[in-house]
Amino acid sequence: MYTRIIGTGSYLPKQIVSNDELAKRVDTSDEWIFTRTGIRSRHIASGEETSSYMGHQASLKALAAAELQASDLDMIIVATTTPDKGLPNTACLLQERLGISAIPAFDITVACAGFIYALSVADQFIRTGSAKTILVVGAEVLTAVTDWSDRSTCVLFGDGAGAVIVQGSEKPGILSTHLHADGRQKDNLYIPSPLPGQARADEPSYIRMQGREVFRFAVKALGDVVEEALKANHLPQSAIDWLIPHQANLRIITATAEKLQLSMDKVVVTVDRHANTSAASVPLALDEAVRDGRIQRGQTLLLEAIGGGFVWGSALIVY
Ligand code: COA
Repeated sequence: MYTRIIGTGSYLPKQIVSNDELAKRVDTSDEWIFTRTGIRSRHIASGEETSSYMGHQASLKALAAAELQASDLDMIIVATTTPDKGLPNTACLLQERLGISAIPAFDITVACAGFIYALSVADQFIRTGSAKTILVVGAEVLTAVTDWSDRSTCVLFGDGAGAVIVQGSEKPGILSTHLHADGRQKDNLYIPSPLPGQARADEPSYIRMQGREVFRFAVKALGDVVEEALKANHLPQSAIDWLIPHQANLRIITATAEKLQLSMDKVVVTVDRHANTSAASVPLALDEAVRDGRIQRGQTLLLEAIGGGFVWGSALIVY
């Protein structure tokens, strides 16, 4: 039994903010941001565009693509670091928006690697026969935890959501997933405290990052985890049709492509228009390339991501 992706969908907030517009708020420039990161613009959520709202919009598109109704789902998993509420979890809020009840619905908080982790969890439920059809969502409002006075971080992030429907099948689908974490890296990328009772006036709950450390670790970890996926499946680098990387920084993406000896026209890149949307970035990129016809049925996809923790992982998939 394999887990197959049978539908994808995504949602981006209406408001688009360019680098030039950001340069009016903080001391930066389009040239600095683009050269260091490959980012030109990002979508920024309004108050109504919460993770569950955007996840819902993305899920409706994924359900339509899969030709299924919400009532066909057995489970909802939402990867988010920016939930609508402390509780209930975002998956419950999404379940309610979808007009269904009773099926299990839970969030996982694995930062930018959240979608890869969520997909892996879904894969375990499907392969053991515990569930038939699962909605997996990555949804984030990172700009709500962004310090808009800190130029070293505020230029990097954006908002959005991506969704996939996965289903059990005898045809090949997810070949393997590979998950890792290293909590010793906790001080390199973090949000101080989500709990109002524990918040400190001298350290507001915005994203804090040691950019160079993150960059160095990401290049090594992602290079290793894509090799691990190929090795586990005894496949050569040439077997990959598409690399769908986490969209944090074009230089990190390029380094992973080089490691795989993959030309950049085999890499789905959205970081220029989306910036880093954390758990939403991989499903957003996947949906874009499925909908514009680049990704075709039967092709082999390699997904990877890394985030604060550090947490990282990959998934090798026959689409
Ligand atoms: N505009 C202009 N200058 C900026 C700036 C901005 N937005 N942000 C930082 N700078 C300045 C710094 O103040 C520093 O100036 P100084 O030398 O006078 O102190 C200089 O640019 C270099 O800063 P540094 O942080 O060393 O730059 P960098 O080359 O490492 O690039 C990142 C910074 C954030 C782009 C890069 O480290 C990076 O992409 N890291 C990975 C981030 C990431 O992917 N995070 C998410 C992972 S899920």
